[in-house]
Amino acid sequence: MSTNRTPPLRVAVLASGRGSNLQAIIDAIEAGQLQARIVAVISNKKDAIALERARKHGLKDLFVDPKPFAGKPDSREAYDRALLEIIQQHDVELVLLAGYMKIVTAVLVNAYANRMMNIHPSLLPSFPGLDVQKKAIDWGCKLAGCTVHFVTEGVDEGPIIIQAAVPILDSDTSDTLAARILVQEHKIYPRAVQLFAEGRLRVDGRRVFLDSAQPGGEAIISAV
Ligand code: GAR
Repeated sequence: MSTNRTPPLRVAVLASGRGSNLQAIIDAIEAGQLQARIVAVISNKKDAIALERARKHGLKDLFVDPKPFAGKPDSREAYDRALLEIIQQHDVELVLLAGYMKIVTAVLVNAYANRMMNIHPSLLPSFPGLDVQKKAIDWGCKLAGCTVHFVTEGVDEGPIIIQAAVPILDSDTSDTLAARILVQEHKIYPRAVQLFAEGRLRVDGRRVFLDSAQPGGEAIISAV
């Protein structure tokens, strides 16, 4: 019997820590909301909880130790070459950075141009980098949020796919705000991946357009 089903999108996830975004993607796949298959979860941290989550769900988990690469003039590129080899061995179609706290170099960025996504806990281009929830509070912003974007060489600079906004409350600490943002991260990251899997994301310069069967399209920016 033949079916028209296309095979699930082959995804690799790079993560350094807790892995709650990885978990959201696993859950969306297991719930049938995301037509993707995670073929490898890769970490630069041996004890990353993300690797435990992968094992628990029967996914391939790989720790790639940065230490042997350290000290060499092109250590970051050499590390990324090692990652790229693994990623290519697994026929990966989309690479997801999910709390991957290492800057990716041109080696990976060029090989996976417009095929590598990152999630960041701010409304980019405001507050790239680290401690961004605290920065948004300290700046006096009334809205914060999260962004899924394609990865380019500039940190947190690539074309924006989806954003979600949350209010900043007077009582917020960076922890309470981070928790509110995280709820939205877990919604928009699987959504962005599903749009990619459906072949509906079109990149034109800095802008990402959503091809839609619906006249008028579907709102790609969600304010929550
Ligand atoms: C998430 O909030 C993610 O947006 C952020 O790290 C956290 C990882 O959580 N990423 C960055 O700041 C990247 N610039 P997780 O490990 O539970 O998914």
